[in-house]
Amino acid sequence: MAFLTTFYAFLFYFAALVFVSGVLFKITQYARTPAPLKIPTTPAPTTTSGVVLRMMREVVLFESLFRGNKWTWIFGWMFHFGLLLVTLRHLRYFIEPVWFPIELVQPFGIYGGMAMIVGLTGLWARRFLVDRVRYISAPSDHLILALLVLIGISGLLMKFVFHSDIVEIKAFFMGLYAYDFQPLPSDPLLLLHLFLVALLLIIFPYSKLLHAPGLFFSPTRNQADNPREVRHIAPWAQQLEQK
Ligand code: HEM
Ligand code: HEM
Repeated sequence: MAFLTTFYAFLFYFAALVFVSGVLFKITQYARTPAPLKIPTTPAPTTTSGVVLRMMREVVLFESLFRGNKWTWIFGWMFHFGLLLVTLRHLRYFIEPVWFPIELVQPFGIYGGMAMIVGLTGLWARRFLVDRVRYISAPSDHLILALLVLIGISGLLMKFVFHSDIVEIKAFFMGLYAYDFQPLPSDPLLLLHLFLVALLLIIFPYSKLLHAPGLFFSPTRNQADNPREVRHIAPWAQQLEQK
């Protein structure tokens, strides 16, 4: 028991460190990468506010995926929206007092968990059933989907079948903020859920999950279509011009 608590405490310190420093590192790298060419995907907005609006539609509605493939869109959107609700519902374990909007979202978080699994199943089935997609699917594509499905199923099983003591779980995670280890319940399903979550955090900074922050740095999405009005020069080219 004491061993498990200590093991999970350090596992989560490690996972949080890898996740935060890894994602910050990648974001800095993305931000510093020069975009020498003007390459917005056209038809593109010609103003910055237009770009912000298009980016918002892309993030919230997956607009370009909708144009590209309706099946992938419906399953992809279900999964991501479900994941958002699940994340909001989970915030109750990490904050005290729990904010009112997070209290409101609790029941929807459960439906979010179900939507997440349905979406992931559809996305995964596509990797077996659609020839073109099967051909380009790497083992990591399957493994990430498997990881998320397992996290979701273990979570739903905890919710509906093998309950765990949520008050103790919250005490454990709140304790981690102050380096004060509170006993973690030793239910196998909870330990599995948490182990897989730690794994997800650890692989995040060097896997395709980086598409989440990466999208905002994509020149095809974050540039305005104004090459005639504003001359586009990458920062390193500006330095060359001054010489
Ligand atoms: C800004 C937030 C995010 C946006 C806008 C976004 C958008 C997208 C889009 C458009 C796809 C492409 C679907 C396709 O064409 O195959 C995708 C795939 C995927 N996303 Fe996200 N995503 C976000 C955050 C996340 C997060 C936080 C996770 C998980 C922790 C995640 C997990 C996945 C996975 C696993 C796939 C691949 C599904 C497959 O293999 O078919 N996404 N995402
Ligand atoms: C350290 C982080 C996490 C902790 C402490 C945690 C803990 C839990 C607990 C205790 C439950 C059962 C809820 C109940 O009985 O009412 C649960 C459910 C669930 N978890 Fe997690 N979880 C974490 C991260 C995640 C992540 C990252 C995902 C998704 C990728 C996830 C997906 C789910 C789902 C889908 C459910 C079922 C629906 C629900 O009750 O919210 N969990 N989680």
